[in-house]
Amino acid sequence: MTETRKLIIAIDGPAGAGKSTIASRLARKLGYVNLESGAMYRALALKAIEWDTSFEDEAALVKLAHESRIELEPTLGGNRVLLDGRDVSQRIREIDVTEGASRVSVHPQVRAWMVARQQEMGKNGGIVMEGRDIGTKVFPHADVKIFLDADPEVRGRRRLEQQNVKGASAEALAAELRERDRRDRTRAISPLVPAADATVLDSTALTEDEVLQRAEDMVQQKLKP
Ligand code: DC
Repeated sequence: MTETRKLIIAIDGPAGAGKSTIASRLARKLGYVNLESGAMYRALALKAIEWDTSFEDEAALVKLAHESRIELEPTLGGNRVLLDGRDVSQRIREIDVTEGASRVSVHPQVRAWMVARQQEMGKNGGIVMEGRDIGTKVFPHADVKIFLDADPEVRGRRRLEQQNVKGASAEALAAELRERDRRDRTRAISPLVPAADATVLDSTALTEDEVLQRAEDMVQQKLKP
């Protein structure tokens, strides 16, 4: 019997488009590992906050990254995130870290460090990795590339409904999302854009199950002998 090929699946898109949910459900269905690359930028931002390092100081951030142990442990409910052995899964969802993650992620050398680690984590396949640059930079030869998008209002509402977004009002969240979108899409290096060969899925008018079904169809197509 031939072994089923272990694919690399890239899911990119803006915040609130539903990437995490789809990535974790798809990974579970396939028996793959779901890796949330944004959690790594979040963990570094948290470390910068704790060590009083400026989000603008690229050299200090890279040094901090080299001195840090950032681990993603895939679980059924998403990634457990460890920073230097400490579980920071909840803390990194708070608004100060969320903003910090977007700010530390503009620096080329920070990105280079993250991308190298992410490539190492996924190199054997059997993964669904979600983020902003997975299909463009981390795994440009990924087997399946999905760019998941949705209208800003819908994304804002979804973010608000997520129980793990703490310490924010609806207005503050909407403003944060707009600013983060702008920064992620306009940064000089690896801006948030769909890879040329990605399938763009707009989830505005689709249910979660419908999005999942489309993603699964793409995977099955790839697995066909
Ligand atoms: O997916 P997330 O919301 O957890 O990501 C947090 C921030 O990290 C986001 O504003 C942009 C950045 N990020 C990135 O630049 N590249 C990735 N692959 C993932 C996240």
